[in-house]
Amino acid sequence: MTSTRGRFITFEGIDGAGKSTHIAWVVDRIVAAGHRAVATREPGGTPLGEALRELLLHQPMSHDSEALLMFAARREHLAQVIRPALARGDWVVCDRFSDATFAYQGGGHGVPAARIRELEAWIHGDCQPDLTLLFDVPTEVSRSRLLRSQANGRTLDKFENEAEAFFARVRAAYLERAQGDPGRFRVVDSTRGLDEVRAALAAHLAALEAA
Ligand code: TMP
Repeated sequence: MTSTRGRFITFEGIDGAGKSTHIAWVVDRIVAAGHRAVATREPGGTPLGEALRELLLHQPMSHDSEALLMFAARREHLAQVIRPALARGDWVVCDRFSDATFAYQGGGHGVPAARIRELEAWIHGDCQPDLTLLFDVPTEVSRSRLLRSQANGRTLDKFENEAEAFFARVRAAYLERAQGDPGRFRVVDSTRGLDEVRAALAAHLAALEAA
């Protein structure tokens, strides 16, 4: 079955919430349902975006610069990848989008939400996700997942190295956004087992397909 209108799906959650485990599975399901799918990520998704990602994840900078560079990367990503894909009728699955800027730079680092809303309106006021899957876990769970991956030899980036209180603020900002836009957000309890999470994801995808 093919559809002429693409769908824009974003994955969000604090670091260590487990969203990455599910992205490939969701893309496979979309393809199995007869659609073309584009999997991409932020910051990143274009050569400039990937270069900015390197800076954003490793270079100390002001919180305002972080927000501005996230949107600079997003501007290119929308122009080169997201908008053309949606126009072709593809489904776009994006690992993080502007909700992450509201949660991390806004909630986590205190950049005023009004400033972020201005950037959002400028860069993609006309283009919003159809569905945002928010993978939610308590901060203790995300912390212990991150520490386990560090013990397995992975170097944590600038954000992953933030204190648990930072992630508590990021999580609260995400949940507040989800509450404010229940039509777009689906909160996925990521402490549940793989099968349960997948069943929830399958139901959300089916609802989006029917919409
Ligand atoms: P990832 O580890 O999920 O790929 O995300 C990279 C990091 O970038 C993650 O710690 C969240 C952070 N981030 C922001 O702080 N603001 C943003 O707007 C985006 C897209 C990501």
